[in-house]
Amino acid sequence: MDLTVSLISGHKHGLQLTNPIMTASGTFSNGLEYQKVFDIQRLGAIVSKAITVKPRRGNSQPRIAETPAGMINSIGLQNIGIDAIARDVAPVWATWTVPVIANIAGETVSEYAELARRLDGMPGVSGIEMNISCPNVENGLEFGTDARAAAGVTAAVRRQTGLPLMVKLTPNAGNIVEIAGAVVESGADALTLINTFPAMRIDVKTRRPALGWGAGGL
Ligand SMILES: Cc1cc2nc3c(=O)[nH]c(=O)nc-3n(C[C@H](O)[C@H](O)[C@H](O)COP(=O)(O)O)c2cc1C
Repeated sequence: MDLTVSLISGHKHGLQLTNPIMTASGTFSNGLEYQKVFDIQRLGAIVSKAITVKPRRGNSQPRIAETPAGMINSIGLQNIGIDAIARDVAPVWATWTVPVIANIAGETVSEYAELARRLDGMPGVSGIEMNISCPNVENGLEFGTDARAAAGVTAAVRRQTGLPLMVKLTPNAGNIVEIAGAVVESGADALTLINTFPAMRIDVKTRRPALGWGAGGL
């Protein structure tokens, strides 16, 4: 059976997948560890853990807790940063047949633009996914909950890269259709739906949140 998917048909580089199975960012690290468990080249695509300009240690433990219907997490974008990705990880990605989409997160428009500039043309990187569920330190909102901020950051990234560009939306948006339209107008090639829903689990014995950070994403 032909399972191939042309994820972004018409794009000059395109994003041709052998099948539609992709890993959600943050659930598959950067793929390297999973090579020991199964043949990751059989996936349609791998989406990396969030990449930030500087390495991040993430939030305090515990960072994952079960819920009756799943789990909540507050990892806090722990990652090794763009320098280590370029030096240690992308060269491995470049040897794989499975395409890798780099998930990026910034606190300012210029951080997103810098990440896109660094990733553009980096061997091993087949596309960029922007996580816009991040606090925007410039105006205090999440980029992904404000159409103007979402459009601005998408346009800034688009100016830096010709790679296939996916924007990952957050369900926190009051009007997600407006945000989707704004990022598509600003140069997104595709949308990723969706990041986690804000959630909290309270331990009834301690009367404290189960996660060290308090709230998390369901
Ligand atoms: C442990 C964990 C870490 C995550 N890290 C990221 C991340 O770094 N960047 C991102 O865009 N999404 C991240 N996510 C969100 C997932 O990619 C996905 O959007 C989310 O889990 C919703 O999909 P689901 O309902 O199938 O779980 C993370 C999710 C989990 C569970």
